[in-house]
Amino acid sequence: MYASVLFFVTVSCACSTAHGLSERSFTIDYKNNCFLKDGHPFQYISGSIHYSRIPRFYWKDRLLKMYMAGLDAIQIYVPWNFHETVEGIHNFTGDRDLEHFLDLANQTDLLVILRPGPYICAEWEMGGLPAWLLQRNNIRLRSADPVYLQAVTNWFAVLLPKMTPWLYANGGNIISVQVENEYGSDYACDHNYMRHLRTVLQVYLGKGTVLFTTDGNTDKEMTCGTLEGLYATVDFGTGDNITEAFNRQRRFEPRGPLVNSEYYTGWLDHWGDEHAMVDTQKVSRGLAEMLNMGANINMYMFEGGTNFGYWNGADHDTKFRPVVTSYDYDAPLSEAGDPTEKLLAIRDVIKTFKAIPFGPMPPATPKFAYGFVMLTKVGNISSLLDTFSVGPVQSKYPLTFEELKQFYGFVLYQTTLPRDLTKPTLLISPLNGIRDRAYVSVNGVFQGLLERDTILVMNITGRQGDIMDILVENMGRVNFGSHINDYKGVIGNLILGQDVLTDWKMYPLDIDGAIAAGWPHTLRLHEETNRPSIGPTFYMGTLQPSGVAWDTFLKLNEWKKGQVWINGVNLGRYWPARGPQQTLYVPGPLLSTTLPNNITVLELEEAPVHLRLLFMDRPLLKVADKS
Ligand SMILES: *[C@@H]1O[C@H](CO)[C@@H](O)[C@H](O)[C@H]1NC(C)=O
Ligand SMILES: *[C@@H]1O[C@H](CO)[C@@H](O)[C@H](O)[C@H]1NC(C)=O
Ligand SMILES: *[C@@H]1O[C@H](CO)[C@@H](O)[C@H](O)[C@H]1NC(C)=O
Ligand SMILES: *[C@@H]1O[C@H](CO)[C@@H](O)[C@H](O)[C@H]1NC(C)=O
Ligand SMILES: *[C@@H]1O[C@H](CO)[C@@H](O)[C@H](O)[C@H]1NC(C)=O
Ligand SMILES: *[C@@H]1O[C@H](CO)[C@@H](O)[C@H](O)[C@H]1NC(C)=O
Repeated sequence: MYASVLFFVTVSCACSTAHGLSERSFTIDYKNNCFLKDGHPFQYISGSIHYSRIPRFYWKDRLLKMYMAGLDAIQIYVPWNFHETVEGIHNFTGDRDLEHFLDLANQTDLLVILRPGPYICAEWEMGGLPAWLLQRNNIRLRSADPVYLQAVTNWFAVLLPKMTPWLYANGGNIISVQVENEYGSDYACDHNYMRHLRTVLQVYLGKGTVLFTTDGNTDKEMTCGTLEGLYATVDFGTGDNITEAFNRQRRFEPRGPLVNSEYYTGWLDHWGDEHAMVDTQKVSRGLAEMLNMGANINMYMFEGGTNFGYWNGADHDTKFRPVVTSYDYDAPLSEAGDPTEKLLAIRDVIKTFKAIPFGPMPPATPKFAYGFVMLTKVGNISSLLDTFSVGPVQSKYPLTFEELKQFYGFVLYQTTLPRDLTKPTLLISPLNGIRDRAYVSVNGVFQGLLERDTILVMNITGRQGDIMDILVENMGRVNFGSHINDYKGVIGNLILGQDVLTDWKMYPLDIDGAIAAGWPHTLRLHEETNRPSIGPTFYMGTLQPSGVAWDTFLKLNEWKKGQVWINGVNLGRYWPARGPQQTLYVPGPLLSTTLPNNITVLELEEAPVHLRLLFMDRPLLKVADKS
């Protein structure tokens, strides 16, 4: 800390010291181009961590490692849809206990840069916006559309009063608050929307709180994303020219501290990508250069974590590209929170700028290779409708997930064949209306699948009156760009041969609810079978307690695509055939040391001959790691 003060006296940000020493304050010194904390010049080194991607049990561990790396601050997003999944019902408990997280950060001596959105991007489902917003037809998200603004205002009226005690000036650790997120890259460019957010934030947080914006590195983005009264910052990674990027900030913010709000330590993966990696030396060299300029840096990500359940987002540039389950991000702390070479290199850079906390870096948490677990077949989706659904919704034309009020996961669409199809006949989604994958069976026989932007036709055979089951999977809503009104399900008519398919029965499926309540391990199966099936089918097994509950990585070798739960918790999606991710992170605290650990797998395409899973002691995030 002392070192950093000395440092400021000698470089560009030569701020004067101190009036009212005992008063807690965090402000911008425009004259001397820096932040002032309690009246003293302050340059922050921060790292991003998303509490929604880490089990609560591990929050303290990750925060302590960030503190020991020499960080002053953390930067966090608040995902609105994580806290208000159902409109009007708010959840701030357990893994969603934001105030507990802030408290742990405060106890760990970490300041907080808060990013409450309402839109956050973050490669998170719908950029953090709740899917129930889409129930309002033609809603213009991220704009001054009154319907959208009202929903945002209602949410902020719940969230922001919880944040005020945590503001730095009020004795907490929140030093600054970001407004929206890279708003300049949104096509709407609606300054009235930003003005509304500024007003609401100032009402709850007071005019003294430092509010800022973050935008990418073009003048257009800076023009649309910035607003008077909100301090304009930039974000850029190792590939960008640092001088030019900060010059851009200077054009919009001629005086005040230099800030890179997202310095990319790594990058994300989509299904089908090569695993992204960012070179450690480039990261540490760029960091040193920016710190030398007196800039304030937040590293995005410092700890990436996991898209558990259905929380991954998706990009949509030329086509729909969902994000993988792991959000490891090639970050300084791994997905499992382990220190990496990159972390040590970054800490070495930080050490040359300031005193870092005395003592060793906490070690990696222990990992365990529990080995193979054999599974048995439970049954297919069509035969289990009573378990997951209270009954179908009927409609002539198909309804979307949003119309059915089932926002995530899976819905079964059922109809009958309008005529005999003795020859293979094309089932077509003419408007590319499968969002996002459809698994099709006729009278219990799996016939194939459709995939958004990728597989738009398939062949069907059968007889008039045969039952056609189409299980539709939401792969995660688009989190960025002009496609964020990403309705799910069957969003346009399907055509079979010459016929438009009509008279649908749609079964919203509460699979997660059934599994959380103990299914299928509470079942007495009439006959256990280890024969694999084709088409969407459940399998179950148990990992016998071994006396330890350590972190482990689950490999589904030769399984095709699906979802896995352990002890009722949805670990996320697997899709080894598409890659790059090959294993799922299983946090140790989910496991029991004394009871059988209940594993459920929903395989959507085809299970392998050997119905087994492998628990390993290391992750495989690249296709090259496959064998
Ligand atoms: C709130 O979220 C926590 C953590 O995910 C969960 O355990 C709990 O069941 C949720 N509460 C309600 C009422 O849904
Ligand atoms: C934050 O921690 C400090 C001690 O480091 C304590 O004085 C303060 O009350 C804490 N703030 C809150 C809001 O708990
Ligand atoms: C960055 O840009 C500046 C100004 O355009 C230029 O002088 C400098 O050489 C560039 N640096 C690198 C590493 O390309
Ligand atoms: C689902 O299971 C039922 C009962 O075992 C069977 O009759 C049917 O053919 C199966 N359907 C599929 C799609 O496998
Ligand atoms: C459908 O079947 C026809 C006739 O067998 C075949 O020519 C065509 O390639 C098939 N189309 C698809 C998409 O499988
Ligand atoms: C697994 O399921 C069995 C049967 O319902 C139950 O007795 C056991 O407690 C469950 N295990 C855990 C760790 O919850």
